[in-house]
Amino acid sequence: MRRPFIAGNWKMNKTVDEAVEMVTELKELVAGVEDVDIAICAPAVDLYAMNKVVADTNIALGAENMYWKESGAYTGELSPAMIKSVGCEYVIIGHSERREIFGEDDQLLNLKLKTAFAEDLNPILCIGEKLAERESGAHFDKVEFQLEAGLSGIEAADVKNMVLAYEPLWAIGTGETATPEQAEEIISFIREKVAKMYDQKTAEAVRIQYGGSVKPHNVTEIMAQPNIDGALVGGASLEAESFSQIVKFD
Ligand code: PGA
Repeated sequence: MRRPFIAGNWKMNKTVDEAVEMVTELKELVAGVEDVDIAICAPAVDLYAMNKVVADTNIALGAENMYWKESGAYTGELSPAMIKSVGCEYVIIGHSERREIFGEDDQLLNLKLKTAFAEDLNPILCIGEKLAERESGAHFDKVEFQLEAGLSGIEAADVKNMVLAYEPLWAIGTGETATPEQAEEIISFIREKVAKMYDQKTAEAVRIQYGGSVKPHNVTEIMAQPNIDGALVGGASLEAESFSQIVKFD
């Protein structure tokens, strides 16, 4: 049985003080939650201070990005060891904003994934189609391509422990959610694709989140879908109250 996993993605929001205030509130609100894995992926500068608040709680931390080299002349980048040193267990790889705004391609993301596994970080690999691809019916081909390129050369044992996040670009920050049925349709397709690329056991083990305008009012029906194991939450993860309601989705 796959454990539900609700992760926040703060993007470029919150100073250190704001981040500490939010997780201080959140840890009280979710203190009793035992059956859901919870993580906040936050701006790198916030993580050290956040870790002081959430270490030894049920809230894990993640980075929003990292580079794939160990160290060296890569001005502005962060290594896996750096993000681990501030308490990160998770790292988002290939968020659509990284792909679209910063030009990250599947080859680069594949290198980042390999490095994350080598350094014992749990990557959350984001995949998903644009509006025009959805409208022309190309969304299945798009996620299939992203899976093949992103997971190229990665072992089943690693895939079992990673997280995939299906995030249609047209639903991110727009208030427009994929219907639970649309999300389930493509997420079950993603799981079948993992079974073809690896095997049934791997496909059954990998956790697949839905992301894109997940809110307290729609999380329950999204989480009721058999293949959806969690949510990657942007806007609604910025407030402790709304994020805690999503975590307690029942
Ligand atoms: P959103 O963002 O919940 O604000 O739509 C989701 C994401 O980009 O991960």
